[in-house]
Amino acid sequence: MIETNTFENLLKDVKIATEKATSEFSNVANNEELESLRSKYLGKKGIVKEYYGIVSNCDKDQKSTFGNLVNELRQLVTRLINIHTESQKANRFTDIATTEWIDVTAPGHVPPTGHLHPITQIQYEIESIFRSMGFQVFDGPQVEDDYHNFEALNIPQDHPARDMQDTFWLTNGRLLRTHTSSVQIRAMQAQKPPLRGISPGRVFRYEATDASHENTFYQVEGLMVDKNISVAELIYVMKVLLKEIFQREVKVRLRPGYFPFVEPGFELDINCLICGGDGCPVCKYEGWVELLPCGAIHPNVLKYCDIDPTVYTGFAFGLGLNRLVMMRYGINDIRYFQSGNLQFLEQF
Ligand code: DAH
Repeated sequence: MIETNTFENLLKDVKIATEKATSEFSNVANNEELESLRSKYLGKKGIVKEYYGIVSNCDKDQKSTFGNLVNELRQLVTRLINIHTESQKANRFTDIATTEWIDVTAPGHVPPTGHLHPITQIQYEIESIFRSMGFQVFDGPQVEDDYHNFEALNIPQDHPARDMQDTFWLTNGRLLRTHTSSVQIRAMQAQKPPLRGISPGRVFRYEATDASHENTFYQVEGLMVDKNISVAELIYVMKVLLKEIFQREVKVRLRPGYFPFVEPGFELDINCLICGGDGCPVCKYEGWVELLPCGAIHPNVLKYCDIDPTVYTGFAFGLGLNRLVMMRYGINDIRYFQSGNLQFLEQF
């Protein structure tokens, strides 16, 4: 039995120790501090152990009152240690998250991919411009016959105009088309007016190559056939096309030009985009750059396609795609397009 006064003080001590434990544990900053508090309260020479030693001196009633308080202190300390251990574990995860983090918003590695050839890019652009004006897109064979490439285009067998284009002839009498105008014939034979369409594609010429000549290049042929189609419609459509391609208003002029399949035939020039017409090396100080040949479809061509030239008229034009891309990007050698040179191609 412990003397009453002493016992009362003892109870106060345990209560104070309990309060102190709560505040001491709330200030723990690291493992060592936690460990030293653990041994202070629960260690072999710790407070709890000391109190348990006193319990043996108590009588029965004192034992239960005092014992309960000491038990509460032990449980409290155990709980506080658990809480700290858990939160330290959580902190370890936070540490990993800050030292070994993955930025899930970072863009990944883009695998190298190819892209469309600059000629194809401009071809698609032109197709979409014409589609928006209600033109169809026609396709035709690259291996052609004499009839579609020459004869029906008003270039008969012995016509001197055949010398204008040097042709790759195949051993079977066919040829590699020298222009996309051949598709005009196929289109007008397949469909009757009103008719408007374009035909982009590859063409071939038997000629020596240099910076401005290739044996293989690309054109877009276009045509429109209906009642009352005149050169005014031609000019309008060309101006819309050029405005869309160059993204600005372009001045054009027509000069007479000879092509067997149009009458009258023209060379369409555009106001030099570099100097605005004042004269510069690009336009050879003329202020104008030759861009595309065109004209009113020759009555003979319409007749070849069973279209009555007294009822219908039309216009046609032939646009060189290589030339257009060269003008747009300032490319000075046409041979780059076929070279397969990646340093060149990857710029577009
Ligand atoms: N076919 C011609 C060539 O390749 C270009 C051409 C000229 C097409 C006048 C046309 C045209 O439609 O009207 O040189």
